[in-house]
Amino acid sequence: MRTPLMAGNWKMYKSAGETTQFFEEFKPLVEKSRHCEIAICPPFVNIAAAVEAARGTRIGIGGQNVFWAKEGAYTGEVSAPMLKSLGCEWVIIGHSERRQYFAETNETVLKRTLAALEAGLKPIVCVGETLEEREGGATESVLAEQFAGGIGPLDPTQFARIVIAYEPVWAIGTGRTATPEIASEAHGFIRSQVGTKFGADAAGAVRILYGGSVKPDNVKNLMAQAGIDGALVGGASLEPNSFASIVNF
Ligand code: PGA
Repeated sequence: MRTPLMAGNWKMYKSAGETTQFFEEFKPLVEKSRHCEIAICPPFVNIAAAVEAARGTRIGIGGQNVFWAKEGAYTGEVSAPMLKSLGCEWVIIGHSERRQYFAETNETVLKRTLAALEAGLKPIVCVGETLEEREGGATESVLAEQFAGGIGPLDPTQFARIVIAYEPVWAIGTGRTATPEIASEAHGFIRSQVGTKFGADAAGAVRILYGGSVKPDNVKNLMAQAGIDGALVGGASLEPNSFASIVNF
């Protein structure tokens, strides 16, 4: 049995005050939600406020990125031990916006994932194809390459501690969700990659989230697919009622 994970990716939204305000409204709405794990990943500067606001709840806090060195002369970067010491449980790695705007590669995804695991964080590693790649029939080869480069080199114990998020780039922030069938097909493909590399038990145990325009009105159909183990939610995680109805799908 895979416990669903509902994770909010706040991207570059909300002040510290708005963060605290969100939790005040959100906490009572998910107080009884024991069917899934809940994570929220605010911008770095608001992680402390989020950890404080989420204290005593089942809501885990995470970063949206992490650098691979523990410390050093890396102006502007934040390390995994720093996130951990702040009270983070999770970290998103390899989001398509990082790949697109900040030169993230499968190689750096792997380095960040290893650093996160070493610090005791739980990485949510993102993969997904662009519209051009999908229309060019390259979806599976892109997913296979992202898996082989960013995830495949982990050892089985390391792999057992990660969550994978399938986020088709064409569905992110566009309102154009993948149909449950398209998502399910991609999840099946990723799970088969896991099976080949790490074996059937690992394939059965790994959680694969879907991300890309998940909203309160489409989450139920997505979650009804056997291979979809949760959601990575951007826009719809910013408002307490909206994210709570996703959590309580
Ligand atoms: P979206 O973003 O839900 O706003 O499409 C998802 C994501 O980028 O993780």
